[in-house]
Amino acid sequence: MSKLIIPKVIGHRGACAYAPENTLASIHAAADLGVEWVEMDVKLTRDHVPVIFHDDDLSRCTSGSGLVADTDFRDIRELDAGAWFGESFMGEKIPTLEEALNAVIDRGLGLNLEIKPCPGREVETAEIALDFATRIWPDDAPPPLISSFSHVSLENAMDMMGEWPRGLLIDDYFEQWQDIAAHLDAHTININGRTLTPERLEEYLSPGKPVLAYTINDPAMARELLEAGITGVFSDCPDIIREEIETLH
Ligand code: G3P
Ligand code: MG
Repeated sequence: MSKLIIPKVIGHRGACAYAPENTLASIHAAADLGVEWVEMDVKLTRDHVPVIFHDDDLSRCTSGSGLVADTDFRDIRELDAGAWFGESFMGEKIPTLEEALNAVIDRGLGLNLEIKPCPGREVETAEIALDFATRIWPDDAPPPLISSFSHVSLENAMDMMGEWPRGLLIDDYFEQWQDIAAHLDAHTININGRTLTPERLEEYLSPGKPVLAYTINDPAMARELLEAGITGVFSDCPDIIREEIETLH
């Protein structure tokens, strides 16, 4: 495995302040801004097609409604995933994982693929997403970082592609996080940077693994976190964060 070089700023759901989140337009927006890595969420349609989408429910980010897990890909593909964000994005579709990976590869971006299973689909989401990703991702490119809040999904990712680095996502603090990180051989700890206390940060940094924080759109907060030892931040507006931290080493 080539060495993972994590940038200080990762575009969240592409660059979702500028284009509808988790769409091809959002990947291209991030690339156009000069972002090095993007983060994207993957889940399964009812008929097990891996698609890039954050919510369990279709209503917030598409012209449709209902659960992704209850909707076949053919019907998902009919939905507009851009108009809610702005008229100029009308016609944007929910991308398949395959389309998104190809766009990421074509644009020379690094990737954090977050496995975001709908409830009860932790195993198959990891298996199917990893199966696609390992077939598509070029051997000579740095591997994607595979992250999840689901320990079951991460365990499956580890079984399927142990050499690809894993990121343990933590929203609410829980005491056994170090045991879980060790069990999953997590390469990074990906934490909620907006609810962080200095004491907790110290604890997360203590094992010496890279710590990444989401979702940081305030440049001053990004600077503070990076100065405190965090390796990188996820941001909806990665360009603004980059400008602020240009002078940091
Ligand atoms: O992976 C970082 C971040 O995306 C985790 O939270 O809800 O935005 O997927 P969420
Ligand atoms: Mg995410």
